[in-house]
Amino acid sequence: MWILSNIIPVLKLYFVGLKVLLYQLFHKGFTLPVLPTQNGKVAIVTGGARGLGYETVRQLTDLGVHVIIASRNETEGLAAVKKICEKNSEAQVDFEFLDVASLRSVRCFVRRFKERRLPLHVLINSAAVMLVPEGRTEDGFETHFATNYLGHFLLTRLLLDSLVHSGKDGSCSRVVSISSSAHYAADARLQDLLSMRCSSAHAAYARSKLAQVLFTYRLHHVLRCGGSPVTATALDPGLVDTGLYERLCRPARLAQRAVARLCFKTPAEGAAAVVFAAVSPDLEGVGGCYLYEGQRIRSSAASYDEDLQAGLWRNTCDLLDLQDSLFD
Ligand SMILES: *[C@@H]1O[C@H](CO)[C@@H](O)[C@H](O)[C@H]1NC(C)=O
Repeated sequence: MWILSNIIPVLKLYFVGLKVLLYQLFHKGFTLPVLPTQNGKVAIVTGGARGLGYETVRQLTDLGVHVIIASRNETEGLAAVKKICEKNSEAQVDFEFLDVASLRSVRCFVRRFKERRLPLHVLINSAAVMLVPEGRTEDGFETHFATNYLGHFLLTRLLLDSLVHSGKDGSCSRVVSISSSAHYAADARLQDLLSMRCSSAHAAYARSKLAQVLFTYRLHHVLRCGGSPVTATALDPGLVDTGLYERLCRPARLAQRAVARLCFKTPAEGAAAVVFAAVSPDLEGVGGCYLYEGQRIRSSAASYDEDLQAGLWRNTCDLLDLQDSLFD
C-alpha cells in the first residue's frame, strides 16, 4: 500500500508531463499578437522576480503596464527591477516583498499595496513551488498547498475590492492564475485537496494545481453572479524551462535539462500566453476557463465538479477565517 500510494502519483505526474512534452515537440509555440498599449493599467505579478514571472513582468512593462513584482527575494526582486529599467527606460516597475507561503506576509503586502492608493487591473498568481521536500509553513500548512494555492486564495480575496473598483463593463479587471497540466494527475476528493499531511510531494504539487483551477472556476462564478467587472482564468503555460524543475531527482533533472533544450518553451515564450490572458482584448470578459496558448481547453473532469468547487471554497474560507460570500 505504501509503495502504491507513493509511486502512483509520481507515475501519473510524469505521464502527464510526457504527453505535454510530445505535444510541444510537434507544435509550434504561441506568438503574442500585437497588443494595444496599456498605459494607466496596474498589475501585480507574484513570483515576478524570476523565470516565467519575470518575463511576464518584462513584457507587460513593454506594453506600458505599471507592474509590481511581488517576490520573497528582495535581492532578486530589486535586480529584476533594475534589469527591466535598463532595457526600457520608460518602464514602470517596482518591487514589494511578498512571501505567499505566509498568510501574515500576504496580509502585510495587501496593506502596503492599499496604502499606495493605486488602481489594480490585473493580478497574476504565478509564484509556485514544485516537489519541495515535505514541510510545513509557519502557519502549519503543507508547503505546496500553502504556496501554490492557499496564499494566492487569500491574496486574491483581499485584493478583490481593488480589482472590482478598477474594472468596468467592457474592460474587466483580470485574475490570471498559473496552473499546470499537473492538475490532470491530481486525485480529486475534497479531503485529499485539503490534506495537511502528504506522503508524496508529487501528489501535493498536482493537488495544489487542481485546487487553483477549482478556485478559479468558483471565483469567476461568484463574481459573475455578483455582477462584478472582474474575470478569473486559469492558465497552463506548458513546459517552460525555469528554475521550477530544480527539485527534480537527479536523473530526472538531467533528463529534463537535455529535453528542455529540444522542446521546452523559453520563459519569454511561456510568458507570451500569460500576457495574452492578462491584457488581450480578444479575451475581454472571458473567464471561468482554462487557457493554453491563448485558447480555452478542457481542464480535468474533476475541476468542473461544482460541489467540489463549492466545498473547497467553503473549507478554505474557514481555514482563513474569511466570510464565505464575497458580497453581503
Ligand atoms: C535570493 O536570490 C539570490 C540570487 O538568485 C540567491 O543567491 C539567494 O540565495 C536568494 N535568497 C533567498 C533568501 O532565497
